Amino acid sequence: MINFTFYTPTRVLFGVGRIKEIGSEIKKSNVKKVLLVAGGGSIKKNGVYDTVIASLQEQGIDWVELWGVVPNPVLSKVMEGISLAKESGVDGVLAVGGGSVIDTAKAIASGIYLDDVWASFLGKEKIKQALPLFVVLTISATGSECNGNFVITNEETKQKLGNHSPLVYPKVSIIDPSVQRTLPWNQTANGACDGLSHIMESYFSGGGNETTLYVDEALTKAIIDATDKLMLNEDDLEARANLAWAATLALNGVSAAQLKGDWASHDIEHAISALHPEVAHGAGLAVVFPAWITHVWKENEPTFRRWARNVWDTDDVLTAVERLKSTYKRWGLPISLRELNLEKSEIPAIAQNATQLGKLGTVKELTQEDVEKILEIAY
Ligand code: NZQ
Ligand code: ZN
Repeated sequence: MINFTFYTPTRVLFGVGRIKEIGSEIKKSNVKKVLLVAGGGSIKKNGVYDTVIASLQEQGIDWVELWGVVPNPVLSKVMEGISLAKESGVDGVLAVGGGSVIDTAKAIASGIYLDDVWASFLGKEKIKQALPLFVVLTISATGSECNGNFVITNEETKQKLGNHSPLVYPKVSIIDPSVQRTLPWNQTANGACDGLSHIMESYFSGGGNETTLYVDEALTKAIIDATDKLMLNEDDLEARANLAWAATLALNGVSAAQLKGDWASHDIEHAISALHPEVAHGAGLAVVFPAWITHVWKENEPTFRRWARNVWDTDDVLTAVERLKSTYKRWGLPISLRELNLEKSEIPAIAQNATQLGKLGTVKELTQEDVEKILEIAY
């Protein structure tokens, strides 16, 4: 048995039409003025922005806006947000968007109290305080709406690093799956792959808690089923709702209780998108994860065989990997580095970037050489 702490303080309002409650939720926390953080404009096109603003106005909550968060969000935008938050005297942060927007908002909410926000990503400065964070989620993928993680790219050093603090869990997250109907298909598929990958990062790592393994198998099947349904009909609201809730549970602690966690595939993907910001996180994982399994499965054979049997209906792990890849392919995701338009000659640099802070993972501790082998399998 492995001891664990389960902490999910975020209040979730889930369902159609619930975004209009954001103003009253913020008011309950006695917050008077928020920094509204947003991406490239999708929320203006699908009406989410108008609903949010109407709700803030109705409750007398003031706001300032920070636009232009890009997928694979960058440190310079965090710095811009910290300056704006300080200048305008906000007492809360409101993220309206996906993982990139939420992660930027978390970095701002905590960074406003730090001397050097990037130092906290390197473990050199500790997060001791954060502004309260509120979230309106528009794409289900990262689980950032219900966890204390955030991932930012330092464009100068080309490092994409994760950070964590119990202080940046959103106070409230609103998840209205109907607003995800405006997602381009590839983003829905990227999100599904990210959710599946979060489950696999815990599942394979051992620790052996049966309850969590059964939960993880069920979540995996729920994501695959919902995504297949959405592929046939992107307006299928039930499927959107199932995918959304499964993706939240995939990284809010439920899928990981009593499991060690591996996270090497994520670290490798983060190195790819640090060097190639045009690669979406979910797409990079579709390429890396099957190759990682192929490289490491013999290190924890019983769990990989269990996964093959219970999820993919085969006793052979490599057949299961082929079934995972064909699922990704069916959804239109890339399954090779080649399809991400990467050159084979870039493999050593990616492996070096991924392992710059040390070895990766727990199933097998990966050296730079291991990561190169995985990327070669993925090519
Ligand atoms: O910027 P806008 O115009 O809003 O467009 C976004 C963006 O182009 C678009 N989009 C979002 N909702 C939409 C929509 N388009 C139409 N209709 C909607 N309803 O989708 C694109 C992708 O958005 P993004 O926020 O980048 O996606 P995602 O949620 O997948 O976030 C990815 C980022 O989160 C990090 C990833 O590494 C990556 O940087 N992660 C964060 C984690 C966490 N905080 O726990 C864990 C993850 O493992 C991951 O590392
Ligand atoms: Zn992820």
